[in-house]
Amino acid sequence: MQAYHIPVLLQESVNALLGSDRDGVYADATFGGGGHSREILSRLSDKGRLIAFDRDEDASANAPDDSRFTLVSNNFRFIHNYVLYYGYPGGIDGILADLGVSSHQFDTAERGFSFRFDAPLDMRMNAAGEKSAKDVVNGYPQEELEKIFYLYGEVDNARRVADALIRERAKGEIATTSRLNAVLEPFCPAVAAHKYLAKVYQALRIEVNDEMRSLEKFLEGASDSLKPGGRLVVITYHSLEDRMVKNFIRCGNVEGRLEKDLYGRIQAPLQAEGRKPLLPAEAEISANTRARSAKMRVAVKVGEGAESACGEKLSGGKSRNEGAKSACGEKRSGGKSRNEGAKSERTSRKESLAGKQAKGGTAK
Ligand SMILES: C[S@@+](CC[C@H](N)C(=O)[O-])C[C@H]1O[C@@H](n2cnc3c(N)ncnc32)[C@H](O)[C@@H]1O
Repeated sequence: MQAYHIPVLLQESVNALLGSDRDGVYADATFGGGGHSREILSRLSDKGRLIAFDRDEDASANAPDDSRFTLVSNNFRFIHNYVLYYGYPGGIDGILADLGVSSHQFDTAERGFSFRFDAPLDMRMNAAGEKSAKDVVNGYPQEELEKIFYLYGEVDNARRVADALIRERAKGEIATTSRLNAVLEPFCPAVAAHKYLAKVYQALRIEVNDEMRSLEKFLEGASDSLKPGGRLVVITYHSLEDRMVKNFIRCGNVEGRLEKDLYGRIQAPLQAEGRKPLLPAEAEISANTRARSAKMRVAVKVGEGAESACGEKLSGGKSRNEGAKSACGEKRSGGKSRNEGAKSERTSRKESLAGKQAKGGTAK
């Protein structure tokens, strides 16, 4: 039987989340196959606690039988409500999110996430969700379809694809992935057609599951849910998600609007750990191709008593300098962590490529 999901950046993300604290309260916002959750539990003491979330009911079959663990079958956008509900008004110690879809969702043909299988056009992470990919493809006006292809998939010829769908659906409902693939075929390049299809499928999946809005609400809720010094670790898989996370960490909003107080200090609740995201090592990518587009960002909640991993004091409000380049990030680069040292060249090459192509998003 195929594994439900191979966790990405497993050791790196759990190391960043827990630091040296084994007694704390943590959240895994994207439980999936539970790989990250099990690693967190294996490192927590008896006093530790882990609250996990997944909007896909299938994930609940993976829940460990452990009194320190609770699984919430709901959207992670409500994280703050649950943190309060479970009795942590002062905040929790760390939150991990490993965004996107699981291999289980992707590889289960009838869920309709993948262009590789002939299946109903569904793509809902939560099977009770109100809108499926079929509803989007057959019900959205042309401008809306064009917008989601362009924004969420960075699809070339977004307007022409939207137009082709409108003409095809006039002949009868487009209800399956194979019929959708047939409409897309003329737009696919001869080489690597699957990359083109992946972008269109990614765009539809993001729209069906309202992923961008959930992520925005999650980031706000997560930063409200952390105690000062609490740590946020987010693994993203496409440039749009990563940009939102990066902006939120830097500015406190996903648009990247800098808001400053009277003294010119940036009003953001989090401070980045390191300036660049951490990427998986080559060995992990060779062993698990779904890790290839992963980027991990780590931030610490600022406020009275907060300290970053390198011992830097983090009081509320960041100076312009701190926002742009944290003292911790500089120290790390001197210390040659994998992120800042060996991988920095690969990161910049990847980023400049992504910039050149104005793309970078591949569905997992
Ligand atoms: C990449 S997988 C996580 C895999 C997990 N870290 C592991 O080790 O198995 C992402 C999971 O997050 C869930 N998910 C995505 N968006 C969500 C949301 N807004 N609320 C709750 N769960 C979500 C998906 O259903 C999926 O199971």
